[in-house]
Amino acid sequence: MIDLRSDTATRPTAGMRAAIAGAEVGDEQRREDPTVNELQERAAALLGHEAALFLPTATLANQIALKLHSRPGDVLVAERYAHVVIYEYGGAAAHAGLMVETIEGRQGRFGVDELEAVTVPSTKSADQRPAVLAVENTHNSSGGRCWPLADLEAVTTAAREREMRVHLDGARLMNASVAAGVRAAQIAGLFDTVTLCLSKGLGCPLGALLAGSTETIERAWREKHLFGGAMRQAGIVAAAGVYALEHNIDRLSEDHARAHRLAEGWHAAGLPVDLDQVETNFVQLDVGALGFDRDEALARLREAGVGLSSTIHPTVIRAVTHLDLDDDAIDRAIDLAPQALGARVAA
Ligand SMILES: Cc1ncc(COP(=O)(O)O)c(C=O)c1O
Repeated sequence: MIDLRSDTATRPTAGMRAAIAGAEVGDEQRREDPTVNELQERAAALLGHEAALFLPTATLANQIALKLHSRPGDVLVAERYAHVVIYEYGGAAAHAGLMVETIEGRQGRFGVDELEAVTVPSTKSADQRPAVLAVENTHNSSGGRCWPLADLEAVTTAAREREMRVHLDGARLMNASVAAGVRAAQIAGLFDTVTLCLSKGLGCPLGALLAGSTETIERAWREKHLFGGAMRQAGIVAAAGVYALEHNIDRLSEDHARAHRLAEGWHAAGLPVDLDQVETNFVQLDVGALGFDRDEALARLREAGVGLSSTIHPTVIRAVTHLDLDDDAIDRAIDLAPQALGARVAA
């Protein structure tokens, strides 16, 4: 199967496996794992923060950040379809005791006016407090859309004026950075904390980082232990992260170029692709326009040997490019998908 379901589908390359095999390791909990320490230092430098913490998943990084920036009963503000709102099993409520206030965004983005409308300062001491703003870049549910830097500057400034802390869910921050030609530190530096995922476009089997100030990351270490996420010889997987930061960032532009080619190929063959949506490595198809039920479309595609996946939007399915897919795989997907969905395209 040509696996376009997600960029989490990548398997470690030979080079990454060699780095894993040769990793120097120690006790991470004692902060004695040299490879974990190296990864954390490199990530902090990349993201323009004082410190970073290695974690098993981006979900854990987000959850720790939300806890650090709030007290139970406070309010988390985020875009309606943000990963922290719809895909983290209510963790913001379960772990941090947060109420969630959402903003109906466009392409995952929103403006200062919309932020201000949901964070009106209270005159009563008993009211709950908007404590943390979480922003997602790239934004998964809208199809890997990017925030312009000026918009991020505006909303983070407005949130700080409301005395809120600001967290970036940058699981795919490197895609945003490469697509916009903006250094990751310029984007990440606007925030108090930043999540970066290693197991998506960067191609690691697992791992994520949370970056912030030295003081914030010291507090994050405690949360990592509390969540049961503190590890031992974790350098064995951190080595994949070090390798990825060296080898797999610039090449994300290849994934983006392939997503564009896929979208143009499908569009030319009559499939309902919104070409403007394709900014990074996602291509979305609105199968409602074909008269298909989402599950039927996915089943037909899978039968034809092309794996796509569903999104939060009932009629929209997605293809995600990644480093396990070469030009040949994209060419075959360009041919196979219109055939699989073709009967209804003509109708
Ligand atoms: C924007 C975003 N944040 C966080 C995550 C969580 O990543 P993980 O599966 O590593 O917990 C994902 C995963 O798809 C994501 O898309």
